[in-house]
Parts: sequence; structure tokens; C-alpha cells
Amino acid sequence: MNSSNFVSRALVGLMFLSTGLAFAESRGSSVPLLPKYEQECAACHVAYPAGMLPARSWQRLMGNLTSHFGTDASLDEASVREIDSWLSANAGTFRRVSAEPPQDRITTSAWFVRQHHEVQASVWKRASIGSASNCAACHGGAAKGDFNEDHVRIPR
Ligand code: HEC
Ligand code: HEC
Repeated sequence: MNSSNFVSRALVGLMFLSTGLAFAESRGSSVPLLPKYEQECAACHVAYPAGMLPARSWQRLMGNLTSHFGTDASLDEASVREIDSWLSANAGTFRRVSAEPPQDRITTSAWFVRQHHEVQASVWKRASIGSASNCAACHGGAAKGDFNEDHVRIPR
């Protein structure tokens, strides 16, 4: 490989790296997860990125874990406090999230509905998906905060 070839490859590499970083940042999903959050809030679904809901929504969810979307997700008080303050501190960075969505769901947020307008109602209900809340069914990297549209795969 001659040197100009090397330089152009290095440049392409850098470009990929920086778009990747800009992407993660614009999604508000670049924040490393609080270990407690990952431990307690990723048992039934992925650890949703904190930046995808406004602080008020997280606070309401954390204040009502005994009736959490039809299940009991309650935790000891110290864990609730720790997770609540981390979520609040990292809330609301995704596409200027600020409006509190109905039921404090990410999936009822205006940006979410817009982003998923191509997905037909019947698709969400497939056995392989279950509901829109099951991000990982289509976003294979959801647990790591990767929601890049280029990595989406809708299961049959
Ligand atoms: C015992 C299982 C369980 C645990 C533990 C749990 N959840 Fe959930 N969560 C659910 C269920 C069930 C739903 C509703 C999923 C659906 O509608 O398909 C849900 C939905 C959500 C949603 C809304 C998703 C949407 O539709 O946009 C958020 C936000 C959420 N959970 C946050 C949390 C947080 C924060 C914690 C940790 C404190 C947590 N969950 C722990 C079961 C759980
Ligand atoms: C049925 C499959 C499916 C599920 C489940 C799903 N998505 Fe998506 N998602 C898509 C598709 C399809 C797109 C649009 C891809 C495109 O425009 O090419 C998308 C796009 C996105 C984008 C925009 C990506 C970008 O590059 O602009 C985000 C962010 C996102 N989804 C987050 C979520 C979150 C958070 C959840 C769970 C609460 C979720 N999605 C659940 C299929 C899904």
C-alpha cells in the first residue's frame, strides 16, 4: 500500500468514527449506563436510553413501580433514589425530548411515532415482536444504545 492510499484509508476510518460518535450523541444514547439501572431495569425489556424521556416522565415512572404497565417492578428505596436521580440527570436529550408523552411511554412520543410511520400496525403485533416497546426485536443493538436505522431488521 502506498502512502496516499494509506492516508485515504485512514481518513475514511476517521470519518466513520466521527459519524458514529455524532450519531450516538444525537440519539442521547452515548451515556454509559448506570450499573444499577442496567441491573434492575433491563430484566423485562432493554434498558431504555435515559435521553428518550423527559425527567418528569422518568420521575413518575420511578414513583409508581408497584403498578408498572401491569407488572410489579418495585425496588428498595435506595435503588429507586439512585436510578431516579441518574435518569433525571440524563433525561431528555433525544431530538429535544421535552413533552411528556401519554403514559410516560417512549413509544407514544411524537418523535417515536414519526420515526416509525413506515411500520404497519399488524407488524407490531407479530409474535416475534409483541409490542413497540420491544425495541430489541428490530434494533439488534438496542441494549447497547444502538438505534441506527441502518441496523434495523424487522423479524417475520
Ligand atoms: C417485571 C418486569 C419489568 C421490570 C423489572 C421493569 N419493567 Fe419497564 N416495563 C415492563 C412492561 C411489561 C412494560 C410494558 C411493555 C409493553 O407495553 O409491551 C414496561 C414498559 C416500560 C416503559 C415504557 C416503554 C414504552 O412503551 O415506551 C418504560 C420507560 C419502562 N418500562 C421503564 C422501566 C424502568 C425505569 C425500570 C426499572 C426501574 C423498569 N422499566 C423495570 C416490565 C418491567
Ligand atoms: C417492528 C420493528 C421495530 C421496533 C419494535 C422498534 N423499532 Fe425503532 N425503527 C424501526 C424502523 C423500521 C425504523 C426506521 C428505519 C428507517 O427509517 O430506515 C426505526 C427507527 C428508529 C429510530 C431512528 C433511527 C435513526 O437512525 O434515525 C430510533 C431512535 C428508534 N427506532 C428507536 C426505537 C426504540 C427506542 C424502540 C423501542 C421502544 C424501537 N425503536 C422499536 C423498527 C422498529
